[in-house]
Amino acid sequence: MPKTPAVSKGIPPCIIRYTTHPIQNRIVFSRILLEDRLLTSTASNPPLAGQVAVVTGAGRGIGRAIALTLAELGSHTVLCGRSREALEQTAAAIQRSGGGNSGRGLEKVAGKSSVIECDVTDLHSVESLAEHVERTFHRLDILVNNAGIGGAGGPLHQLSPDDWDRVLNTNLRGVYYCIRSLAPLMINSKGRNGHIINISSLAGKNALPNGAAYAASKWGLNGLTYSVAEELRAHNIRVSVICPGSVHTEFSPHPGKNAEKMLQAADVAHAVAMIVTQAPQSFASEILLRPTQKP
Ligand SMILES: NC(=O)c1ccc[n+]([C@@H]2O[C@H](COP(=O)([O-])OP(=O)(O)OC[C@H]3O[C@@H](n4cnc5c(N)ncnc54)[C@H](OP(=O)(O)O)[C@@H]3O)[C@@H](O)[C@H]2O)c1
Repeated sequence: MPKTPAVSKGIPPCIIRYTTHPIQNRIVFSRILLEDRLLTSTASNPPLAGQVAVVTGAGRGIGRAIALTLAELGSHTVLCGRSREALEQTAAAIQRSGGGNSGRGLEKVAGKSSVIECDVTDLHSVESLAEHVERTFHRLDILVNNAGIGGAGGPLHQLSPDDWDRVLNTNLRGVYYCIRSLAPLMINSKGRNGHIINISSLAGKNALPNGAAYAASKWGLNGLTYSVAEELRAHNIRVSVICPGSVHTEFSPHPGKNAEKMLQAADVAHAVAMIVTQAPQSFASEILLRPTQKP
């Protein structure tokens, strides 16, 4: 039970909880972020003020929720995906929640979000995104590699090479392209703390019969994350991975599951918020996210 709620100075508004560890009988400290809405309404200087974030696949589902959260935490959020219309809807939601856009056609700047069409499977498209971010903001603090697709269901021996390529090129090669194109800008932002957050899946931790290509892409993404984390550690860039179980989005049907008990997109966004508001010396490198009750 919390004994001493307090709001700390110099860190995001949060509650410091002092609890006694049930087994080791020692004091445990944990920082709990206040509700997003409370955060924005109380913080005149939100925790990510002045920072720039890129979220891939920000037009719907988990990416949209992450983009909204990062914008609420104060960052200028660059929204990427293939469907401009969906991205515009996320930008409008950010605007409604207090942010704003100053229109300049395709590339909107100086508000709380920018909309950039980008296909992560196309290196040229990703490089254009990186050039835009560098030219416009001269910095990048947070990259969330969220864009992803599911695999065609069925046993691997029946999967077409085209479907294999589609899944691997989006979920794994796409992340490589984004890191290849955007990490140099983060590295050049010397003295700052950067975050790269890859949205993987519990399918990257477990067997997934009839989804082997998807599982392979996410197991690969986890290995990529752990390795790049070591490569970029010295540059003050923390590379972490979030592995959610099934989330209630349009991603895939979940027949027989109770949608209310399932993880929601906002739950993944909350995990992202926890990562990007950590103290500089703390590195939560991996989060496995499960529903409290089996749906
Ligand atoms: N939902 C789940 O059960 C679940 C569970 C664990 C992990 N995940 C992971 O979470 C991430 C997001 O999933 P979601 O549930 O939010 O799925 P979703 O609702 O289908 O959204 C996927 C997003 O990715 C974008 N996208 C797909 N291909 C792209 C490409 N080539 N270039 C740029 N953007 C692309 C889509 O936008 P456009 O089509 O407009 O490009 C869309 O915004 C994925 O990586 C997924 O593997 C999902």
